[in-house]
Amino acid sequence: TWTPDAFVETTVADLKSKIGNDRVILGLSGGVDSTVAATLLHKAIGKNLHCIFVNNGLLRKNEYTDVLKQYEGLGLNVKGVDASARFLDALEGESDPETKRKAIGRVFVEVFDDESKLVENATWLAQGTIYPDVIESVSATGGPSATIKSHHNVGGLPDYMKLNVVEPLRMIFKDEVRRVGATLGLSQELLGRHPFPGPGLAIRILGDITREKVRILQEVDHIFIKGLRDWGLYDKVWQAGAMLLPVNSVGVMGDERTYEKCVALRAVESTDGMTADWVHLPYEFMQKVSNDIINKVKGVNRVVYDISSKPPATIEWE
Ligand code: XMP
Repeated sequence: TWTPDAFVETTVADLKSKIGNDRVILGLSGGVDSTVAATLLHKAIGKNLHCIFVNNGLLRKNEYTDVLKQYEGLGLNVKGVDASARFLDALEGESDPETKRKAIGRVFVEVFDDESKLVENATWLAQGTIYPDVIESVSATGGPSATIKSHHNVGGLPDYMKLNVVEPLRMIFKDEVRRVGATLGLSQELLGRHPFPGPGLAIRILGDITREKVRILQEVDHIFIKGLRDWGLYDKVWQAGAMLLPVNSVGVMGDERTYEKCVALRAVESTDGMTADWVHLPYEFMQKVSNDIINKVKGVNRVVYDISSKPPATIEWE
């Protein structure tokens, strides 16, 4: 039977013999998978692991600084790169979901490539790919779900990087990744983090992206997620977030008529993201969060809750 301790032991030994004294580059995303992959590699090769954490300007509120601090606290050799402006400039005027994903993927590769060239003599690229990513990218080459959404975690890196790829988690599932992380001593707060898509808030802002929309959505999302934590609901939910809709609706504030943005909240339960159902959050919680959002976030006057299951809906709206 599979145990996390045995997995750590054999994987660290494998990584040591495979990599030896070579240098490895790894892109940290802030998520569980890349963090666990980095921690395993760090255990195996220490400072020869060079981590890069890119801020694409589409992360959650305060995420970049908070997570960078956590990485440093883990003793990882990590460099933070704030490329927000590059991403947001590249996204200007783009409103098609796949075009947005591709623009983000392209800029990520450019930024990552620039940064990895600064790590002299690196010969390996490590990735936090897990088994379901492998399956999805295989089916994306042919199956019926071929072009539904282009996940940019797998592949897509330019050939000229010419690095060998090492993926210590490619045979295991998310729950196993979390157990491995716990064995490695990572905090429950870190391991229990909800999944978050690579393109970040870009695919939760329906239509075109502006800095102002990112700011609005970060505030809304922050109130929702902090609310889930404060009410002890965060760990009961598999993934949660907010969508900024390309819709203005009429409201009233004092004696004034308003015509402002509408946001949709989404919270789902799932085991692997392939199917999902909406979570029956308590009405009192929804009432509080909705009031907080409308009162505190300028530019939003309406909050709705997404009660669609996957399939036929998807978790993200784009
Ligand atoms: P959907 O919306 O397809 O999402 O039901 C399933 C899971 O995948 C995440 N997701 C993405 N992750 N790049 C990512 O890294 C993407 O382009 C992307 N699109 C969706 C989504 O957040 C959910 O966890």
